[in-house]
Amino acid sequence: MTASIKKFVVLFSICIGLFGCGNGYRQQGKVETTPMGHLKDVFKHDFLVGAAVNEQLIAGKDSLGLTLVIGDYNAISPENVMKWMYIHPEPESFYFGMTDKYIDFGLKNNLYIVGHTLVWHSQLPDYLNEVKDSFLMAQYLENHINTLVTRYEGKLDAWDVVNEALNEDGTLRRSIFSKYLGDNYIGMAFALAAKADPEVKLIYNDYNLWKPLKRKAVLRLVRQLQAKGIKIDGIGLQGHWSLKGPPLEEIEKSIVAFSDLGLKVHITELDITVLPNPWDLEGAEISQNFDGSSIMNPYKDRIPDSIQNALANRYQDVFRLFLKHSDKIDRVTFWGINDQVSWLNDWPIKGRTNYPLLFDRKYKAKIAYDSIIALKKEIASLYLN
Ligand code: XIL
Repeated sequence: MTASIKKFVVLFSICIGLFGCGNGYRQQGKVETTPMGHLKDVFKHDFLVGAAVNEQLIAGKDSLGLTLVIGDYNAISPENVMKWMYIHPEPESFYFGMTDKYIDFGLKNNLYIVGHTLVWHSQLPDYLNEVKDSFLMAQYLENHINTLVTRYEGKLDAWDVVNEALNEDGTLRRSIFSKYLGDNYIGMAFALAAKADPEVKLIYNDYNLWKPLKRKAVLRLVRQLQAKGIKIDGIGLQGHWSLKGPPLEEIEKSIVAFSDLGLKVHITELDITVLPNPWDLEGAEISQNFDGSSIMNPYKDRIPDSIQNALANRYQDVFRLFLKHSDKIDRVTFWGINDQVSWLNDWPIKGRTNYPLLFDRKYKAKIAYDSIIALKKEIASLYLN
């Protein structure tokens, strides 16, 4: 047993003794209250705690999921329904149905509501991929941003305005937007969004922002926007992490650097994969077919206790960092509500069984859930003594 697992086990046993805490959502088919406390209450003085919700939940077809979200979270993000291909499938037609439902759900339950996402190179409709000139691209972009931001003005709390615009080396990703509008499309998008709703928080969102070159590129981008007087309020660190990395020190440097520019940090898509990563394998190519491979899908039937503990420890470490910088962090959002619906069962390899979140396939809180609540209580008690 490593020192940190030992520490967690001791802490957890003390916690059970002191608070009578157990896993919430214990029984299949029934959502129970959690004596230990709910995420949104436990971290209420630190940051919002959110979850991405899928279409099934928004459509009201996942009643356990709905109860879980309302019980534990105070922020929501739409996993897919607001992406361009779904909400704006044809040049002249929008499909608002699911987004309206998503927003009604958030308003009714007093949740912080995120719009995800206005400009992204992925999940685009065909007509956009077929554009061949700058004028038309600018028109599409303007119409898309104006229509959505105006429609949901005063209802949404934050927009992921631009998603994943950077390459790993910090250069600008080549996309249909950069191709036809140049580097300036990011500034255009932020300026249009700010004009359509001056109050809503505007976020640049990306993955691997802990990487020094990407961090530098974001800092450069933000300074450019600020120099032009274009509003940007926050940086979204997606947080698709693993048991092994990224190093906490690098995440910390990014949190501090973004905050130093006057921006708020949002952890927007947190999940921690417990499965092998194809990119870690020597010579592995993502195009390689791993379907059905047990090396790549080792916990098909169950997750071993050692991995469950490692996940709890990793979540504890990550949350210790978040708590240290809670003055800089507005929100921590998990990408999905439970292991069953996590996109990491199908990415980067289809059809695996992953365990990246705080709730298991039966909506039951895992020890990772208890570990971060115990951590908060431990820190709080240090201040009390
Ligand atoms: C993912 C969804 O979770 C999947 O259901 C979908 O098939 C692909 O997109 N970065 C983002 C998210 O900003 O929108 C992505 O969501 C995950 C990576």
